[in-house]
Amino acid sequence: MKAIVCKAWGLPDTLVVEDLPDVTPGPGQVAIDVKAAGVNFPDVLIIQNKYQFKPELPFTPGSELSGVVRAVGEGVSNAKVGDKVIAFIGHGAFAQQVVVPAQAIMPIPPGMDFDTAAAITLTYGTSHHAVVDRAQLKAGETMLVLGAAGGVGLAAIEIGKALGARVIAAASSDEKLAICKEHGADVTINYSTGDLREAIKAATDGKGPDVIYDPVGGIYAEPAFRSIGWRGRYLVVGFANGEIPKLPLNLTLLKGASLVGVFWGEFAKREPKANLAAMREMMGWLAEGKIRPHISGRYALADTATALNDIAARKVTGKVVIQPEK
Ligand SMILES: NC(=O)c1ccc[n+]([C@@H]2O[C@H](COP(=O)([O-])OP(=O)(O)OC[C@H]3O[C@@H](n4cnc5c(N)ncnc54)[C@H](OP(=O)(O)O)[C@@H]3O)[C@@H](O)[C@H]2O)c1
Repeated sequence: MKAIVCKAWGLPDTLVVEDLPDVTPGPGQVAIDVKAAGVNFPDVLIIQNKYQFKPELPFTPGSELSGVVRAVGEGVSNAKVGDKVIAFIGHGAFAQQVVVPAQAIMPIPPGMDFDTAAAITLTYGTSHHAVVDRAQLKAGETMLVLGAAGGVGLAAIEIGKALGARVIAAASSDEKLAICKEHGADVTINYSTGDLREAIKAATDGKGPDVIYDPVGGIYAEPAFRSIGWRGRYLVVGFANGEIPKLPLNLTLLKGASLVGVFWGEFAKREPKANLAAMREMMGWLAEGKIRPHISGRYALADTATALNDIAARKVTGKVVIQPEK
């Protein structure tokens, strides 16, 4: 079977495709033929040793996948050969086959295709934990989403709308903002062409948003936080811009506002039951059509580096997936 291998820390072009032996599950494990693997911004960081999660070299990157069970190890009771499953793992998804612990899988809901199944766990899991659990966004409140056409951003828009909130999407191009509108954004702001503070003021009648969802950091964080509403909650989700911003703490006092950290991977590890409940709620929203994952690109296994480079270059909207059989 073929797999992407990271042999030394570096940029996506240093990844190689290798022929590896077929996988065999050990006790408590499940072997899966991978049909699709979701690509995420953290994958770009992990291969450069710039992320909080650091696998040992050499390793196969990729943390979320969908596929078909090809074999089960001793003692596995929640899966059988031929089952269609979703798995979230530390690494290993950018391959034609993978072995995962049996507790890392869940069935693909009826009617869901493999690409969608591979693309929902991390982005929707993160945004649900952020918006529902950490920010406690309520119907009728307003949420501003930065980097809104990206993976976690589009998920945050849809979750905000599913909760009955008003959602303002901010992104760097009108093309990206058109996609945000298609996914439910009520108002849009192009932060590459105008003054962000003025635009937020105009979009909220001067009151400021109740919640700000920030997966970008860098130059947008301070002007956004200065614009937040009374009792606002500012979600610190990520730093796609590369720069970790610093904020004067008096700004929290002036608005009675909170800075709220979000770390979905740790939440899922420490609070698995709460994470499962969130996933179940989102599967319900998917079935009702309230959330519609946007998959903007599909790449063959040999083109994994191109997929990662496209994400790093801000070329991607929503999610892209690797289809390892291609
Ligand atoms: N806290 C958590 O638990 C958690 C979980 C998952 C992901 N994250 C983090 O959340 C961030 C976004 O992840 P994602 O999967 O949504 O990524 P993504 O799909 O690549 O979206 C990130 C967005 O950030 C914006 N951006 C601004 N400057 C950028 C730059 N220099 N390079 C790349 N993008 C830039 C882009 O939008 P514009 O072009 O419109 O500005 C892009 O659409 C990442 O930092 C990731 O590590 C955190």
